[in-house]
Amino acid sequence: MPNFQSILEAIHQEAIHAKDKGVVASYIPELAHINPEHFGMHLKTLDGQSYGVGDYNVPFSIQSISKVLALSKAMALVGESIWERVDVEPSGHPFNQLALLEIENGIPRNPLINSGAIVIADILLSNLEHPKEDFLNYIKAITNDDTIRYNESVAFSEKVTGFKNYAAANLLKSFNNLNNRVDDVLDFYFHQCSIEMTCSQLSEAFFFLANKGNCLKNIAQLSETQAKRINAIMLTCGFYDEAGEFAFEVGLPGKSGVGGGIVALLPDQFVITTCSPGLNKKGNSQLGMLALEQFTTKTKRSIF
Ligand code: DON
Repeated sequence: MPNFQSILEAIHQEAIHAKDKGVVASYIPELAHINPEHFGMHLKTLDGQSYGVGDYNVPFSIQSISKVLALSKAMALVGESIWERVDVEPSGHPFNQLALLEIENGIPRNPLINSGAIVIADILLSNLEHPKEDFLNYIKAITNDDTIRYNESVAFSEKVTGFKNYAAANLLKSFNNLNNRVDDVLDFYFHQCSIEMTCSQLSEAFFFLANKGNCLKNIAQLSETQAKRINAIMLTCGFYDEAGEFAFEVGLPGKSGVGGGIVALLPDQFVITTCSPGLNKKGNSQLGMLALEQFTTKTKRSIF
């Protein structure tokens, strides 16, 4: 068994001394204020151990990481019918690109690019009685933590600058792939992205995807097959046009967000979360990717 804590500490030391820490996202103005020095890592193993370094208990904006939890909730609610409205192919394009959506008649390539996540938000809006409240309660339940909140300033900041997401939602609507009003779907989507969580909360929230669909309290959230499918989608689509690079360097299913977080997991073994807000050119956390590459190399743990 590797000494996980000392491996995390060695990676932390290397990360805080790195010269190139990437660039903090500024297209959502409220995110531009994040401290670029923030760095944390948290590992939760399926046998119940937890390990953390740096700012692993400091909340940050989960942004696109929320797309995996929204997809999980939608799958639990409506099952396979999701795939009539969203495909499961990697896009090979940035998260907010719209050209393929037009060419492919309003069917998003996958549920982790923005247009696909907007369709999933539409499904949640149609199937939850109190969508924002119920979705937050779902996240609190799977994390076993009642303190998780939406950040209204971040949601509002994205609402007033989210022109491309309005374009995506309108395009989906024009192809009859959105059942609710554009404003209502985007209000839900901006809120899900604004949720703030720590690295340790995220490792706990994603536990069920490493544990055959069963959350920390051992309650089934998804079937084993559904959990396997979500992991496959994370591996092929979780990093947009850098999904190949993440599989090549890290070798785990995972998901990034422009708030600087990455969650990755090895089925039946562990969930690992990093946060470092500086992004690389493809919009994924620069140091988070390096740290995870180091982790799977040093521990010799990956799906390959
Ligand atoms: O829709 C957006 O642009 C953001 N709320 C989320 C983007 C994001 O996190 C992309 N992933 N790395």
